[in-house]
Amino acid sequence: MDNKKERLLHNYHHPRNKGLVDSPDFSSGQFNPSCGDMVHINGTLANSDKVSTIGFTAEGCVLTQASASLLTELVKEKSIADVLALTKDDILVLLGIEIGPNRMRCALLPLHALQNALIKRDDK
Ligand code: FES
Repeated sequence: MDNKKERLLHNYHHPRNKGLVDSPDFSSGQFNPSCGDMVHINGTLANSDKVSTIGFTAEGCVLTQASASLLTELVKEKSIADVLALTKDDILVLLGIEIGPNRMRCALLPLHALQNALIKRDDK
């Protein structure tokens, strides 16, 4: 197995930031209609702008859980604007493996949950 796949599996078996945080400033669940799996991400902000703490729960495949683990590490201390600017390509670079169209939703579910949580917060 190559290093990139090993890193993904490591994030699946030893996820970072697993578990939701108390008293969150942002929170959202995202559902994958093609398989029924779900990712929930929440967190707190520092100075109303930077991600301070972040956590997730995921019922899903290896790819989704590893993506959530890597993404939640990536966005700590980032501004809301920077997180909202993240794209599919950023996630693909983060995951570091080829992903076919059928698995793209799995890979992007955590990003969509996180961005939705931050957008919903701005709507308040
Ligand atoms: Fe359900 Fe990947 S198969 S999230």
